[in-house]
Amino acid sequence: MCGIVGYIGNKESKNILLDGLKELEYRGYDSAGIAILENDNFTSFKALGKLKNLDAKMAEFTTSSFSVGIGHTRWATHGKPTELNAHPHLGESSYVVHNGIIENYQELKKELQDGGVTFLSQTDTEVIVHLFEKNLAHTANAFEAFERTLERLEGAYAILLVHKDENDTILFAKNGSPMIVATDNDGDIYFASSDAPLIGKASNVIYLDDGQYGYVKAQEIHIYDTQGAEVHPAFSTLPTSKLSAQKEGYRFFMEKEIYEQSDVLLDTLLGRLSDEEIMFDEVDTSLLHGIDEIKLCACGTSYHAALTASYLFEREAKIRCSVEIASEFRYKKPLLSTNTLFIVISQSGETADTLETLKMAKEAGLKTLVVCNVDNSSMVRLADAALLTRAGIEKGVASTKAFATQVTLLWMLALYTAQTRRSIDQQALRKQLRILRKVPLASKVDGAMHERIHRLSKRYLHGHGFFFIGRDVFFPLALEGALKLKEISYLHAEGYPSGEMKHGPIALADPELFTIALMPEHLLYDKMKSNVEELSARDSTICAISPLEFDKADDFLKTRQHEHYMLEFFEMMVIVQLLSMEITVRLGHDVDMPRNLAKSVTVE
Ligand code: G6P
Repeated sequence: MCGIVGYIGNKESKNILLDGLKELEYRGYDSAGIAILENDNFTSFKALGKLKNLDAKMAEFTTSSFSVGIGHTRWATHGKPTELNAHPHLGESSYVVHNGIIENYQELKKELQDGGVTFLSQTDTEVIVHLFEKNLAHTANAFEAFERTLERLEGAYAILLVHKDENDTILFAKNGSPMIVATDNDGDIYFASSDAPLIGKASNVIYLDDGQYGYVKAQEIHIYDTQGAEVHPAFSTLPTSKLSAQKEGYRFFMEKEIYEQSDVLLDTLLGRLSDEEIMFDEVDTSLLHGIDEIKLCACGTSYHAALTASYLFEREAKIRCSVEIASEFRYKKPLLSTNTLFIVISQSGETADTLETLKMAKEAGLKTLVVCNVDNSSMVRLADAALLTRAGIEKGVASTKAFATQVTLLWMLALYTAQTRRSIDQQALRKQLRILRKVPLASKVDGAMHERIHRLSKRYLHGHGFFFIGRDVFFPLALEGALKLKEISYLHAEGYPSGEMKHGPIALADPELFTIALMPEHLLYDKMKSNVEELSARDSTICAISPLEFDKADDFLKTRQHEHYMLEFFEMMVIVQLLSMEITVRLGHDVDMPRNLAKSVTVE
């Protein structure tokens, strides 16, 4: 979840790097840094927080001749957001920036420390620069040392490295994290982890493939493949519109964000999960001391994430858990007890109602925690502790990846609470941790399923309303599915617990009532099946979503078979998101900016 830029040429490099980082800032903004090598002088700056802090620190700095520079904006994974943990990381005479995760960094770090190397940061990245310098002592040049370094790295990475003795060179590698190399009309060379920073600066780009690495010198680009053979990939032309570049080929931000979920969920988990436990550097276990109840409070989609989590807190952590809608809670004169941990959930960290409840809880002396996507937001600053969801900026007003990361993080928090209170046995915890790792895969969009949803959507453009139904955690998912649909398609939709349909709503059942039934294999399947059969008997038009064949439905979306209901949850989440979007596209409405709504509601 970081952003990378690089530049080599005669232009003033500070502004090129800073401008590039500004375009990438949404990918991570807990700290940023730049290193520039001009002649034989290395200058490096790092700053905590937003990029403007780095900009201010560099105010007096400028380059006046040929220079080589690398820059990075960070979203902490290994090691807290501190200046020492910010990139670029320095060895004796080289700097590195990295995006991704070096999975075997602990083993490499130990090996280097045993050889006398001192580490300054807690990051996985720092091993790269030390390993490179160790190899440099036994190789003919920096490039060979870099090749040897890459041979030892396991995991995902995009790397830029500069070394003082070769002051006209940037070494680079890409494996699993994006990296682009580009040139402008003067032959100057740029790097970036997405094309947005390059627009308006460079004209021709090469999107590097996994396993490719190499070096650039002034006006020269050398790229090698996994076998070490030099390759000459063709340049492509850079898109000219920033907006379409940011959509990365998708039609809408919402679509891009649905497809991105699998990747951002990896970031949510990164560094927080071992085989044995959940690790939250940001939270002290004392936050849970003396706590016998959890209260979750939020608005909109975040409220649905809270509702989902309430099942998991009670079931896994065996702790009482209640959920409140912030706009209701703030005026109900609630009875608050200091044995309650008050957790607010907010994508933006700015929603007025939620923020107000956080203030109320603080004033009443409760311990508070925020689950948020935006560092330094009002809620993050106010709460006693914060857990960041790391979804990256979400542009579509209809929230998708923010929800996915909130549910995942809250599930992890339920397990963290369980392990801290010792209310889960180690074997059960280990199993849950193993399943959590599969969430990114379960959330991956299946192209064939998307195509099927697209075709199916034409049958759901009319009628007098939709009921999304489910049980247990699939009830909040039904609420969320209905919210997505009404937000962007303007069709009337409701989410309902399926067992409640017979207590009223079933009176509406007829062929023009569309029921979207969430029927997971591993959670109350038989109960759910009877509820859907009741609706089918009354001629409601039914679209069943399930891994198990079901012949009472008019339409059937068959999901993959999973070993746990939470994995079914994430696959079905993607399906209801895509269904809402495809219906909306057919109706011709604005997917990303629906009428009457705002992304962040900072008024009451
Ligand atoms: C607005 C947005 C929703 C969001 C809600 C809560 O209504 O349109 O997508 O769920 O606010 O926002 P928050 O930032 O607190 O999660």
